[in-house]
Amino acid sequence: MDTITTQPFSDQRPGTSGLRKKVKAFQTPHYLENFVQAIFDTQTDLRGGVLALGGDGRFYNREAIQIILRMAAANGVKRVVLGQGGLLSTPAASCVIRKYKTDGGIILSASHNPGGPEDDFGIKFNTPNGGPAPESVTEAIFERTKSITEYSIIEGQPVDLDQPGEQTLGETSIRVIDSVKDYADLMMQLFDFERIHQLFNSGVFSMRFDAMHAVTGPYAKYILEGLLGALPETVINGEPKVDFGGGHPDPNLAHAQELVSLTSGPNAVDFGAASDGDGDRNMILGRNFFVTPSDSLAVMAANAHLIKGYATGINGVARSMPTSQAVDRVADQLGLACYETPTGWKFFGNLLDAGKIALCGEESFGTGSNHIREKDGLWAVLFWLNLLAVKQQSVAMIVQAHWHTFGRNYYTRYDYEAIDKHAAEGLMAHLRSELDNLPGQTLDSYRVAYADDFAYTDPVDGSRSEQQGIRIGFEDGSRIAFRLSGTGTEGATLRLYLEAYEPDPTKQMQSTESVMGRLVHIALTLAEIEQRTGRTKPTVIT
Ligand code: G1P
Ligand code: ZN
Repeated sequence: MDTITTQPFSDQRPGTSGLRKKVKAFQTPHYLENFVQAIFDTQTDLRGGVLALGGDGRFYNREAIQIILRMAAANGVKRVVLGQGGLLSTPAASCVIRKYKTDGGIILSASHNPGGPEDDFGIKFNTPNGGPAPESVTEAIFERTKSITEYSIIEGQPVDLDQPGEQTLGETSIRVIDSVKDYADLMMQLFDFERIHQLFNSGVFSMRFDAMHAVTGPYAKYILEGLLGALPETVINGEPKVDFGGGHPDPNLAHAQELVSLTSGPNAVDFGAASDGDGDRNMILGRNFFVTPSDSLAVMAANAHLIKGYATGINGVARSMPTSQAVDRVADQLGLACYETPTGWKFFGNLLDAGKIALCGEESFGTGSNHIREKDGLWAVLFWLNLLAVKQQSVAMIVQAHWHTFGRNYYTRYDYEAIDKHAAEGLMAHLRSELDNLPGQTLDSYRVAYADDFAYTDPVDGSRSEQQGIRIGFEDGSRIAFRLSGTGTEGATLRLYLEAYEPDPTKQMQSTESVMGRLVHIALTLAEIEQRTGRTKPTVIT
């Protein structure tokens, strides 16, 4: 074993979802090693314990895995459970951590961020419950990175990542497992595969799943085409590539245009879905119809009793603060507990572990349940397939009927990417300074009911998270929220979230753009977006 002398890097604080930087930063000598050593130094159960390991297959995945394996061996890890080829989707990693009862997992991913030598890489630690490490853990890791002086690594032949079965590296045993099988088994327990199989065989149903050249390709092919009998052309862009084919593997209307066009026009398929770089996000489309992630969560909550894995009923739901309040309406009518958490999946973990909620989601194309502790792209797609098979209705019919019952929460998000950091911080500080003046004011006929900087006290462990985004709520149930991204790797990204509530069924078929017009104007004016950022329009609208 070698002990290598190193010096701390000052920028290793994990963000919304782990440490994300450009590949080039991770290739800086000792950069990855320091962070990994900080994990081993603080997560002491890993010594003599079991570690799950895998990533989304992006550029530098295989190299990073070899380094982590050699460090795991040097740090006394007894066994590593490794996804074949170094691949594990984020939800599959969560599943593996839970199933094999490991002492945690290291997931290599920068999620939906582009991959390649000039693009992004990421690493995060998940705790033994299968979920992203809570802030107390990520802060401990960060603290450690600030004072680290050495790390341990062994010399050795590269591990064969592709050969299933047991190998040894030093005194550590490395078990290469099928990346898909355990996850597929879990899906079979939750959904009625027979019924979905019949839907695919009916001859009147067509689907496309866009894996965006990312990690879900093999999962989707095995489950949809293999187990469920969907036609072989169902999965598109199904070969994982280190640079995601040069694309931006983010399943939304802006980045999954190929899929969007397959669901539009006279020859449109009935159902379209996509997942992101590491397989935890999802987009759901019907024929000429887009389901907002917030609506998707609400529809799932309202129909969970129809799905095998949730048939006994769910007790509670949760959504991140910027997610629309559509699911709150369902919870209200069905008498379910409903929690509003800060952005990021890690805040759902305690609620799920304590059995307070069964379903949760975020507006950022994330939905999930108590089956694992990460959001889960393919799970959401299977949930919808199961629902379509049971209801025998189109996606549009299901969602419109939902609006009829619960009202419609029109929703949109504006992202201003790579803006100047100081300008972004100034903008947020300015908004904070306005908060006390806003309640009671009428802005373009919207009367402000409350305005605050969202703070959250975890109902399970009492931990407090402050400054989680500005919320401005109006008396008619509409809302505006602002926050700065915690996953960007360049400058700052400002997110503006807008929601308009419409209970009247005769007014639920308008375009989101037309309904949002006045709220957008209020938001732009209040935050002085153009003056402060120099941007006249957002980088992406989702
Ligand atoms: C973004 C999303 C957030 C999600 C995270 C990880 O974080 O907004 O909902 O949990 O990616 O997928 P942000 O960049 O906004 O901090
Ligand atoms: Zn992701």
